[in-house]
Amino acid sequence: AVRYRKQVIDHERVASYAFAFDIDGVIVRGPETIPEAREALRMLNGENKYNIKVPYIFITNGGGRSEKARCKDLSKRLGITVTEDQVIQGHTPMKDLVPAYKNVLVVGGVLDSCRKVAQEYGFDNVYIPLDVMKWNPSVTPYYQLSDEEKEVARDVDFSKISIDAILVFADSRNWAADQQIILEILLSKNGVMGTVAHDPSENHVGLYFAHSDFVWATDYGLSRYGMGALQVSIAALYQEHTGRELQVTRFGKPQRGTFRFAEKVLSNWRRNTLSEHVENLSLEDADADADLSESEDDGNEAEGVVLQKDSKLSLELPPASTVYFVGDTPESDIRFANSHDSSWFSILVKTGVFQDNKLPKYQPKQICDDVLEAVKFAIEREH
Ligand code: G3P
Ligand code: MG
Repeated sequence: AVRYRKQVIDHERVASYAFAFDIDGVIVRGPETIPEAREALRMLNGENKYNIKVPYIFITNGGGRSEKARCKDLSKRLGITVTEDQVIQGHTPMKDLVPAYKNVLVVGGVLDSCRKVAQEYGFDNVYIPLDVMKWNPSVTPYYQLSDEEKEVARDVDFSKISIDAILVFADSRNWAADQQIILEILLSKNGVMGTVAHDPSENHVGLYFAHSDFVWATDYGLSRYGMGALQVSIAALYQEHTGRELQVTRFGKPQRGTFRFAEKVLSNWRRNTLSEHVENLSLEDADADADLSESEDDGNEAEGVVLQKDSKLSLELPPASTVYFVGDTPESDIRFANSHDSSWFSILVKTGVFQDNKLPKYQPKQICDDVLEAVKFAIEREH
């Protein structure tokens, strides 16, 4: 048992701490990849002076494409392999809404990209604003569908469909049209287009946003309005129209639900990283099984790794000792990392929304120039 345990400690080289990265403004800015990001990730993959592999995940409020497509893009940009179980997008936790709603209107993204994502998540009937505009072009008097849009739009009779929920998955490409349709459904009799509820009890349509970022970092010099700004706009129109406050359910950072989801993803990912290694280790070590059974008897734990009875691959891990979260937006990233668990350590970088010339609204534990400096800082802090 002692020998096996020592091998885990000495040669396994998987850190007890971990990283979580924001994407826009930390790893990328629009089409550009932030140059320091490649080296930062290589360091976590083991290219550091301690030869230690550090588990990491990505938590972005962005979306509009599948987690698989996002991983492909990240892998290409960074020259590493990022897998689906390392990535959480703003709309990823919305998967949990599948059993709750039958007919959903999914808003945002390019053409029907978000319809495809929602279908992959398992939603049965997924409609998009383009379907509504095709059904009746007079819904948006100043906008006519392009040929490309007509092609992806479906033929649906919305006078016969009751929309149960509106899910804003990604940034709207057409604020005027999308707002017109969202407001109409929120004010309708139970989500049927062309109707008007006379009493709020006649409308049960849920409104969900994948995140609430007011601004975000692109390759333009100044930040751009994000989905949170659209939310503010819709809330103002709703208030003006009804005198009531808009009810919204929010996902993404800094929401607690997304934090819980992230913790689950991170813990699975750490287990994967570790069990992969234990498998390799056991192949090299013919005595591992014998050693393992001894360890059951004395109940020893190897630096936070509990070896389970039935299999050397079944590992029960304590949570990461520290999770370094690197983000660029104080209101979503730093607030997210500071609010939910004291073992998360917030690092704010200067490559995105946050600019050095004013105090951040939420105070990070550390400010770094960029993601590479953040990774170096955290590794040195740990060793
Ligand atoms: O729409 C994307 C955005 O608002 C922020 O993405 O990666 O900075 O959380 P990220
Ligand atoms: Mg960001």
